[in-house]
Amino acid sequence: MTRHLLITGGCGFIGSNFVRFIRQTRPDWRLTNVDVLTYSGNLENLEDLTESDDRYRFVKGDICDRAVLHPLITEADAVVHLAAESHVDRSILDSRPFVQTNVLGTQTLLDALRRAQANDGRPRRFVYVSTDEVYGSLPLDDPDNKFTEQTPLDPRSPYAASKAAGDQMTLAYFHTFGMDVAVTRCSNNLGPYQFPEKVIPLFVTNLMDGEKVPLYGDGKNVRDWIHVDDHCEALLAVLERGQAGEVYNVGGNNERSNIELTLAILELMGCGKEMITYVKDRPGHDRRYAIDASKIEADLGWKPTRSAWPEALRETVDWYRANRTWWERVKSGAYRDYYKQQYGARIGAACACED
Ligand code: NAD
Ligand code: DAU
Repeated sequence: MTRHLLITGGCGFIGSNFVRFIRQTRPDWRLTNVDVLTYSGNLENLEDLTESDDRYRFVKGDICDRAVLHPLITEADAVVHLAAESHVDRSILDSRPFVQTNVLGTQTLLDALRRAQANDGRPRRFVYVSTDEVYGSLPLDDPDNKFTEQTPLDPRSPYAASKAAGDQMTLAYFHTFGMDVAVTRCSNNLGPYQFPEKVIPLFVTNLMDGEKVPLYGDGKNVRDWIHVDDHCEALLAVLERGQAGEVYNVGGNNERSNIELTLAILELMGCGKEMITYVKDRPGHDRRYAIDASKIEADLGWKPTRSAWPEALRETVDWYRANRTWWERVKSGAYRDYYKQQYGARIGAACACED
């Protein structure tokens, strides 16, 4: 049974929800959260934990840095790997950080795990949090066609390509070295603490500021929305009960076109259609994602319970409405000061580990 879990990227959107979820569902586990705090890493997402919880530790560190990883992995029993560059539009502007973190960072973690296992003979489960975007794009006119774990990979953005590389590298370490790895491929998450560059928090916070919402292309692209808590449940199920070497699709069974999503947000916000601005489409914009999650349901007994529409959207919109201070500090950049105020030089010292 896992006692000490290393979570990478725990200060991001899904990572911070996952840290809090594990704290609640597995209160006796020790948690280490390693996060380098890129623009999307925000210590304020875990403000309630950092000061009070002696079974939770934050380490500011880069997953590409072997010297940081080595001691952390040595003491861990398992790793859930969420750290990534995660935004498709940024990967179109500059793909290099995506290759660095999503490919090289994943490979560095896998090698550190392999070395720790060689040193003490103790296998550690590694869960790679991949994405449905590795499968590419589905047509709109074939609603029964969904991604299964057998669908060939066809990543079409630099982000998706870098995630697919990390995903395949992870599986290669199972086949080549017999390591205890599993991969999840999840659809679009919604919920609290999502960086307001992603469509839902961007649109809600724009409307709260009286600004229009930029809808890409014809607005007919489809995403399969899942509440972040359901994704966290799935990650725990795979961590505890998943088979080594297996891939598990995770989805909310909740397909919505972007225009449908936008109209629903406008209604919840009491705004009219005049607040939509149609803008130039994202290059290579995937048309539709749809997940067949029957394998994780049948094999691990997981099912989404928090993703029902429109309740999940209403709850999410309400969270951003109630937490204006949180997102205003993100949009203004003020959240970047929190780390220095809380930790000063202390965390840096904790990371100065020998290789
Ligand atoms: P996010 O951008 O909100 O968070 C990423 C976190 O990783 C940040 O805290 C950041 O500081 C950290 N990080 C980045 N580079 C790092 C590095 N080199 N070393 C250490 N930490 C680093 O992303 P998210 O939306 O929470 O996504 C988390 C994971 O889930 C990603 O792997 C993503 O590909 C995957 N995923 C996301 C979704 C989604 O809808 N958001 C769906 C499926 C899969
Ligand atoms: O499917 C899982 C993926 O979901 C994750 O792997 C990614 O990390 C995550 O960012 C998300 O990717 P998307 O590109 O689908 O999410 P995003 O919120 O950027 O966009 C959702 C849809 O909304 C997409 O069709 C593009 C559209 N969009 C997005 C933005 C930011 C707009 O129309 N306008 C916008 O301003």
